Amino acid sequence: MVFDYIDGGADDEVTLARSVSRFRDIELAFDVLADVSEIDTRTTIMGAPSASPFFISPTATSRLFNPRAGELAVTRAAHTAGVPYACSTLASVSVEDIAAANPGTKWFQVYVWKDRGLVTEMLARAKAAGFGAIILTVDLPVAGNRERDGANDFTIPPKVTWRTASQGMAAPGYLWDLMTTPEIRPANFAHMRIDGGLIGFINAQFDRSVTWDDARWLREAWDGKLALKGICAPDDASRAVGIGANAVWVSNHGGRQLNTSPSSIDTLPAVAEAVDGKAEIILDGGVRRGSDVVKALALGANAVALGRAYLYGLAAGGERGVTRALQIMDSELRRTMALCGRAKIADLTRDLIFERRLS
Ligand code: FNR
Ligand code: LAC
Repeated sequence: MVFDYIDGGADDEVTLARSVSRFRDIELAFDVLADVSEIDTRTTIMGAPSASPFFISPTATSRLFNPRAGELAVTRAAHTAGVPYACSTLASVSVEDIAAANPGTKWFQVYVWKDRGLVTEMLARAKAAGFGAIILTVDLPVAGNRERDGANDFTIPPKVTWRTASQGMAAPGYLWDLMTTPEIRPANFAHMRIDGGLIGFINAQFDRSVTWDDARWLREAWDGKLALKGICAPDDASRAVGIGANAVWVSNHGGRQLNTSPSSIDTLPAVAEAVDGKAEIILDGGVRRGSDVVKALALGANAVALGRAYLYGLAAGGERGVTRALQIMDSELRRTMALCGRAKIADLTRDLIFERRLS
């Protein structure tokens, strides 16, 4: 059930599958006899230096995947790798504890809640804890229909049913960790009731009447960098630039929201054209290999956010698992850059994408 919560998507998972497979359809051209003795993956993302053009995408309740450390495991691994860490509003560890574990670059993701006072309070806490940018996720007016969770009786926190109990018995180490640590819940909202589990909480607390006026309100309320996460249409990308967003984040929430929405790598070129260098572009969705990072950058992204790629590592091996996942991504990125004959991030340009000529 925990694996399915990470691995699954909405409805019959068409967007999820295509998000991965569309990267496979893109072919890379390569230059030969280029000096690739020194591969340099350093870059800046929303003004922050980063060792790599990829970073940690915000994902809810990391303690589900690693009950003892949760977000602390992920944020420490991000710091070790020298990449930014983006924390979900629905984190299972508080922003203050995350800040204490990671002196590096941290960003905070928000949703617009019915209670704007709650949002203002979260912004102030994030600011005080040293989070340098806010990410407004805009593709979740209601929660998507994740059918695997229903089939597993899965809720956050997990409740005891025949199905969940039998799955728990098969993973005694996990069950032990779950039973000997505090209940898993959104730690930043410790005082609130979460009847109906996390998804019920989302559907009850999230404001469905949010519009561009609210995004503008957030822009005014926050004096640091701002990204809008969950952009698909070029017109929305232009609007995001218009309200003063520093980054347009192309995403469909990892195929967990609107099923049959297009994959991010397919929507990226038109968004990049609309943004026209007036803001940074971040892409997520289906990035599983270093070559995927190269393709996204060649097609116009400044940086790529990783979701499941690090979550699998977290569930398998805690902090060491995330560190290992980031190392794999880093070594694949370096190898792909060398094989493409491109030594620097700035060299990952559109001409790397092979254009098929039909004759
Ligand atoms: C997410 N994602 C997400 N996004 C967000 O803005 N706030 C959140 O709380 C969450 N929670 C969340 C939980 C889990 C288990 C997953 C897999 C994803 C979406 C995430 O930030 C990102 O957009 C996708 O994961 C990118 O797709 P890939 O890399 O997982 O294919
Ligand atoms: C998810 C929500 C909670 O994708 O963002 O699971």
